[in-house]
Amino acid sequence: MTYEEILAKARAVMGPNCRVCPVCDGRACRGEIPGLGGIGSGSSFTVCRPFFDSVKVMMDVVYEPGKLDTSIELFGQTWPFPFFLAPLGGMGLNYNSYLTEDEWSRMSVGGMAKCGSLAFTPDGALDKFFDLSIRSIRENGGRGIPTVKPWKTEKLLERLRAAEEAGVTAFACDVDSCNHPNMRRLGALQVLSPSAMAGLIRSTTLPFIAKGVMTASAALRCADAGCYGIVVSTHGGRVIEDAPAPAAMLPEIRAAVGERMKIFVDGGIRSGLDVFKCLALGADAVLIGRPYVVAGCGGGEEGVVLYTNKILAELREVMLMTGCVTLADVTPEKIRLAN
Ligand SMILES: Cc1cc2nc3c(=O)[nH]c(=O)nc-3n(C[C@H](O)[C@H](O)[C@H](O)COP(=O)(O)O)c2cc1C
Repeated sequence: MTYEEILAKARAVMGPNCRVCPVCDGRACRGEIPGLGGIGSGSSFTVCRPFFDSVKVMMDVVYEPGKLDTSIELFGQTWPFPFFLAPLGGMGLNYNSYLTEDEWSRMSVGGMAKCGSLAFTPDGALDKFFDLSIRSIRENGGRGIPTVKPWKTEKLLERLRAAEEAGVTAFACDVDSCNHPNMRRLGALQVLSPSAMAGLIRSTTLPFIAKGVMTASAALRCADAGCYGIVVSTHGGRVIEDAPAPAAMLPEIRAAVGERMKIFVDGGIRSGLDVFKCLALGADAVLIGRPYVVAGCGGGEEGVVLYTNKILAELREVMLMTGCVTLADVTPEKIRLAN
């Protein structure tokens, strides 16, 4: 199977919700929620590609070559590369039901585990989203990070206990779902206060990640609450209009938190080159979302694996051409911001 074959199959089965555009940039699906777009004008999604295009990489091929190493230490373990699959739910509501939630859960968590990596998994209005996530993570020896909605605290604690019992790698909460258009009518979600967050973190030994942090001050509040890490993210532009590209916030957030927390980022990351740019901007690792569903619809679990290897090969190529032997070499000097 080739990536072109995956795209051709995906194009045949993913319409009308996902058009499988040459670059997944949020323009064709603007405003489509349910669907794959950003909210309203879609600007918080469409802003991502122009931002990445404005970050230029600095070639350096005069260096002592070594064995190129893309591995990274996170959660007390070594991972083969610094990118993970983002939580994506709603194969029926947002996509066109070509995949069931169950099939996507198995192929996403299973495919990433086959690569020695992991998936962040979704949660949603129906309990089955979370239950399938936990089932798939359990089947893969605990490899996976359940990402739960900011439910009222009692339900959050229930989810946290279930995650602990399944032996998951870490526990995440997409705090930016507090007003998610697909779920706000339930009235079951909260804005997670720093003290509620600290209470959750005190109650577990699992590393805790807050997903949906866009400012240095919010990042500092997460650090003070005891977070292991944050995901700099706007939920793919689905929860707020006219936000900047999350990756654009990385230098500011890294400068504020230093090494107190791990910093992940997502939003419009579409290649190994983009992964490289995010690391140089200050991220420890990144999450990739929508293109993975395309890979899954076009190629099943094998598609997930093939897409992962494609991103990894691209990352290795740009490291080789910029004098980076390990991820520690991917520093701000490796990029320039064009106007
Ligand atoms: C259809 C769809 C479903 C999503 N479901 C979730 C979810 O359940 N939990 C969550 O934290 N993020 C969810 N997200 C947000 C993604 O995890 C990610 O933040 C976003 O898609 C940005 O990455 P991308 O541009 O690579 O897709 C969803 C996004 C989409 C498009």
